[in-house]
Amino acid sequence: MTTRKRPEDLRSHRWLGVSDLRSFGHRSRLRQFGYDTNDWAGKPVIGIINTWSDINTCHSHLRARAEDVKRGVHQAGGFPLELPAMSLAEVFVKPTTMLYRNFLAMETEELLRSHPIDGAVLMGGCDKTSPALLMGAISMGIPAILVPAGPMLRGNWQGKILGSGSDVWKYWDEKRAGNITEDDWDEIENGIARSFGTCMTMGTAATMMAISEALGFTLPGFSSVPAPDANHSRMSAMTGRRIVDMVWEDLTPQKIITPQAIDNAIKVHMAMGGSTNAMVHLVAMARRAGIDLTLDRFDELSREVPVIANVRPSGKYLMEDFFYAGGLRALMDQLKPMLDLKCMTVNGKTVGDNIAGAKIHLPDVIHTLNDPISTEPACGILRGNLAPRGCVIKPSAVEKRLLKHRGPALVFEDYNHMASLIDRDDLDVTPDHVLVLKNAGPKGGPGMPEWGMLPIPTKLVKQGVRDMLRISDARMSGTSYGACILHVAPESYVGGPLALVKTGDMIEVDVPGRTIHLDITDAEMAKRKAAWKAPTPRYERGYGAMFSEHIGQADQGCDFDFLQVNARVPEPEIH
Ligand code: FES
Repeated sequence: MTTRKRPEDLRSHRWLGVSDLRSFGHRSRLRQFGYDTNDWAGKPVIGIINTWSDINTCHSHLRARAEDVKRGVHQAGGFPLELPAMSLAEVFVKPTTMLYRNFLAMETEELLRSHPIDGAVLMGGCDKTSPALLMGAISMGIPAILVPAGPMLRGNWQGKILGSGSDVWKYWDEKRAGNITEDDWDEIENGIARSFGTCMTMGTAATMMAISEALGFTLPGFSSVPAPDANHSRMSAMTGRRIVDMVWEDLTPQKIITPQAIDNAIKVHMAMGGSTNAMVHLVAMARRAGIDLTLDRFDELSREVPVIANVRPSGKYLMEDFFYAGGLRALMDQLKPMLDLKCMTVNGKTVGDNIAGAKIHLPDVIHTLNDPISTEPACGILRGNLAPRGCVIKPSAVEKRLLKHRGPALVFEDYNHMASLIDRDDLDVTPDHVLVLKNAGPKGGPGMPEWGMLPIPTKLVKQGVRDMLRISDARMSGTSYGACILHVAPESYVGGPLALVKTGDMIEVDVPGRTIHLDITDAEMAKRKAAWKAPTPRYERGYGAMFSEHIGQADQGCDFDFLQVNARVPEPEIH
């Protein structure tokens, strides 16, 4: 039986419930808003961490949804306070939002710690926001629940359905090949993002919202609801009601994120054909909970779970269709024999309870385990002398001929070097070349930008080539596709073997065998390593300098070293 907290057990009681000089100050300032004791006395204070902003189009509805959450909190007898946080608009933030994921995680943790907050509603969805919010909440350790922003509606161009990201890359290649006009390109620009909400392909946003639900951090079914759907408002209010009870029940993140829940989330990720970014984020989230998740676990489970969500870029449909098909509950119901159904979730029920009765309504959108959409898994972890700590590929989004490949390297020292050469007609490149991009990792990018889907050289695009083997220490957008080997660890900027590759070296990749090999002798490798010189630091001050000093490598989730440690952080003194 769950023991319920008493009002005097609430964190906020220390600010508001005692009788001293400081609490006089706190209460008098709440009265300044027009509140009185009926608003707060004996009630859990719910912090709504909102990543709404005028620049994040994926979250433009979250300002209104916060009002729905507040309605729910009031209905359940709580006291809601909205606290804005960095919004991390994926498209606008440069050089990459990944530079700031840990910043938002820290902001979330410290907003919750420094204020009189008993429970948190986390509002986000655009790529880095869900993992960042959850990382902060896990570290803080008070009850927390996510309102996933939800996907936008399908794109449309001349009656054709457009998907975020995936169709941008596709039609950009068609434009470079001269197959579509400037006017066509303008029309695509008008039709690809028609409503608020996150990218509606199986990009990082959709993947991380689904993973959040699979872990147990959203109400069941919420991650699949399109942002403009009225159900999104209703579920936001339900979330507000639920967090109040979570506080009384003391249902903290540590009771939800367990090794079993993480395995469930990885299996869902594989079945969804999710973004490769999930590997970095889930490792970071697990480590915040003190769980040592390794890349090998992803590889093991990817061999067990086929892709069954027929959603781009691995499949055909979009997240709006996935919702109509039954959403995540229907997909998880298919995975039932493989999931740990006893895992606890934010609604106080188990995964098994939450998926009971779920049904697939559109069988071509969500397939069954016996009829997967791809025989290739959603992820593979390769190792070898080029990536001793591992690297990542998404076999389900690769042209089959490239799953086993040997070819000469064409090396780009950094992004600008690549950009200066890639469109040249005299570039010495064939479809068998392996494009290599250096200095795009956690420290080198910096922030590991999504440059891993290197453009196919224009010369080859015009010849009809649409996929080539590409290797980098960068990430790629979840909406990207192709034979892109990513997250090479250790990265080139710190002297990993990728730094030592030269144009013309032969590289061998065997995805079924999970190997990646730079075909030079150990002696030659050692000679090049001895001659390698560390680049000068990119930042000398500010957040960038702190980031560069403390950021971890991709295989360990790119968290800051001082945030991973499982050490005690004291509750603030109230003087
Ligand atoms: Fe926000 Fe894609 S830009 S989810």
